[in-house]
Amino acid sequence: MTRHLLKLSDLSAQEAQGIVERAIALKNSRDPAYRPFIGKTLAMLFTKSSTRTRVSFESGMVKFGGHALFLSANATQMGRDEPLRDTANVLSRMCDAIMIRNDSQADQEELARHSRVPVINGLSNLHHPCQLLADMQVWTEHRGSPKGKTAAWIGDGNNVCHSFIEAAQLFDFKLKIASPKGYEPAQEIVRAGGSRIELVADAASAAAGADVVITDTWTSMGQEAETQRRLKAFAGYQVDDALMKRAKPEAIFLHCLPAHRGEEVSASVIDGPQSVIYDEAENRLWAQMALVEFLLGMTPKA
Ligand code: CP
Ligand code: NVA
Repeated sequence: MTRHLLKLSDLSAQEAQGIVERAIALKNSRDPAYRPFIGKTLAMLFTKSSTRTRVSFESGMVKFGGHALFLSANATQMGRDEPLRDTANVLSRMCDAIMIRNDSQADQEELARHSRVPVINGLSNLHHPCQLLADMQVWTEHRGSPKGKTAAWIGDGNNVCHSFIEAAQLFDFKLKIASPKGYEPAQEIVRAGGSRIELVADAASAAAGADVVITDTWTSMGQEAETQRRLKAFAGYQVDDALMKRAKPEAIFLHCLPAHRGEEVSASVIDGPQSVIYDEAENRLWAQMALVEFLLGMTPKA
């Protein structure tokens, strides 16, 4: 059966943890002779902008002996309304895996239904699973296993927040979420997260005693028309020095990037000693290559 990663919970806890362990091993070894993807191609469909997702997949595929094709909606027939079903069928006869970054999770599901090869969600309106594999890797690298620890999500209950909720289940940590009214994560995703997820009243309560503090942009791609309204709604939700002081002294700060200094995070925090954002960004490459190995059934036996 073809495996896809449309949301983090498509993986079992054991699989997700195994991919993160494998990502750490790949990063530590950096063996230029390890080229499992010779002759393999990854088609990358983008209807939204990207720096990290594009470059990490493209560079990763090349480092591991394969090739990635950057396909923007406008440069392909997708931009002229070719049905996803036809796109999926055709690409999966020519490529070994497909990555898609678009708005609609439902469209990703449609693509996967008609694909013979693994489909990977490179961000949708609802989820950003690849980001969370990199985040679990960086957390593990800096502070050991997330199991039994506590993370604080401060701000928008968005796609990255939804994947964080799913990560809490798979990696067994507690997640406290502080979002302004009307910007909470989707109820059904919170509910599925079970007792590990707690929605709290304000940023200070979420950060209290946390091992990890996370935030993301207040205005995600496609929401630009709401920017002014969101700036007002999110006042009081900036991760600044005072908020970080409420977390554990050894707490780390994560942000998937791109960031807006002076909005969701102060420059002193994101550029300060607790921030691990560049290790986090680098891990996109290692985590995704471990993921591609897994989806193609190529993970070496430990
Ligand atoms: N974090 C992340 O997905 O970055 P890009 O939008 O640059 O791909
Ligand atoms: N929530 C952000 C993440 C960007 C990587 C967005 O969807 O724009």
